[in-house]
Amino acid sequence: MKFLESLLNKVFKKKIKQFNIKEVFTPSTSAKLTFVERKDIDSQINKALLIPGMQLVVYGHSGSGKTTIIQNILSSKTKRYIVTNCILDTSIGEIILDAFDKLNPYYTSEKTEKDTAKIGLDLKSSYLTLESTIKSELTYEYAEKKQRLLPTQLTPQRLAEFLGAAEVTWIIEDFHKVAIAERQKLSQILKIFVDVSNRYPGSKTIAIGAVGTAREIVNYDSELNNRIAEIHVPLMSNGELEDIMIKGENLLNVDFEPKVHKDIIQFSSSLASICHHLCFSMCYSNGVTDTQLVKRVFKPEDLRGAILDYLKQNSDSFKETLDRALKSRDGNFDKTKPILSAFCISSKQELSKDDILNYKNNKNLYGKKVIQYLNLLTTVDYGEIIRFDENSGMYFFSNPFLKAYASMQFSEDEKHNKPIQLQQAREQARMEEVYSILKRMYFEQGETKMRARRIPPNKIPNRKSAGK
Ligand SMILES: Nc1ncnc2c1ncn2[C@@H]1O[C@H](COP(=O)(O)OP(=O)(O)OP(=O)(O)O)[C@@H](O)[C@H]1O
Ligand SMILES: [Mg+2]
Repeated sequence: MKFLESLLNKVFKKKIKQFNIKEVFTPSTSAKLTFVERKDIDSQINKALLIPGMQLVVYGHSGSGKTTIIQNILSSKTKRYIVTNCILDTSIGEIILDAFDKLNPYYTSEKTEKDTAKIGLDLKSSYLTLESTIKSELTYEYAEKKQRLLPTQLTPQRLAEFLGAAEVTWIIEDFHKVAIAERQKLSQILKIFVDVSNRYPGSKTIAIGAVGTAREIVNYDSELNNRIAEIHVPLMSNGELEDIMIKGENLLNVDFEPKVHKDIIQFSSSLASICHHLCFSMCYSNGVTDTQLVKRVFKPEDLRGAILDYLKQNSDSFKETLDRALKSRDGNFDKTKPILSAFCISSKQELSKDDILNYKNNKNLYGKKVIQYLNLLTTVDYGEIIRFDENSGMYFFSNPFLKAYASMQFSEDEKHNKPIQLQQAREQARMEEVYSILKRMYFEQGETKMRARRIPPNKIPNRKSAGK
């Protein structure tokens, strides 16, 4: 790569920097080269980071860009940070232990004081003593899972001091997944962090969760009201998605025709990860893996393969989301399918509450409760399969691919026995079917009314707190 770069520079007598597609389009990691600044959110985060003692709770729809924006801002300030990832049964004790472990390099590093924060000798030796206590503690087996014991000396207060002295910001990712009882303990921890910040003003915790309100992440007391910045990261606007593509095109020296831009924006449905994925696949399947010497133009036909590729790669997650949305919670009748069927059958992309009630027997099935079910379908617990636009009062599928997948699934449910034996051939046929539904729904109906929108944080319907 370096050789090619210098050769190109010699031939063209100007600097042509080479980039690889995997650094440019990042569907499953935080974007760096194509990172698009979001001024309003950036300034809220910067302000909260600057105010001594202020802790942050960052929330918003899954895939809205929470992790990316936090990591880019912290990196641009060359701030040190550690990340604790939560899963469904993570306990507060495990979260504390994880942060303690990740602090290790800052307390054992041989680097000069210039590179590391000035940590007092007593705190350093306290850290090391605690570390050896934890190492020597016996683990115990509980419900087939080995758990480490949290030593009594490792209190949240102590952890706050360790973090504060090392000037390390603590990011707690996916905190909404933690059980409610455990989540309540975090508000106590944040209180301790605020208190400790008198001695360590830069000490920060950033709790991140894919939910509709900050209170679903941490339900704190009013005394913390002015000490916690609630930052909402909305889904991306069309302009922001366009900026990702423009940055990527410049880096790879490619050109997506205007219709390709438009189609990608529409299919992305405000989710940057889909935009990155489609751009990546389109370039990759057309042999573009590095910066091009001669500008390469992409036409709408080139997008077809990328869409099919996206469908194939995500069919498991579509299935999982649909299963979650359809799952009967009380063992009785499958209450959400008739609503989702109304969307799949309709030629419109957005439906009102009345449109849904007018479908088949829905009026009798739901009556006034239809709003309740629609709201549930916008929650993490139901896979956020439906979104609501507060301004128009309309509901719509959160992702066009999911809608096409659900349509295929529902029609397959009715057909039952499909005479396809080979699993692979069956999967290919299923995805081709989803693609043709998608084409019918979105390409062949001329202009569609789907728009990217920003849902004001306080306007998102109440979401049930549960794991993603
Ligand atoms: N500002 C941005 N500029 C460019 N790409 C972005 C930006 N923000 C997010 N992305 C891209 O969008 C995708 C999702 O971003 P990210 O993982 O940060 O979302 P998230 O809100 O943390 O999602 P989750 O709640 O599921 O963890 C990634 O592919 C990332 O590269
Ligand atoms: Mg994230």
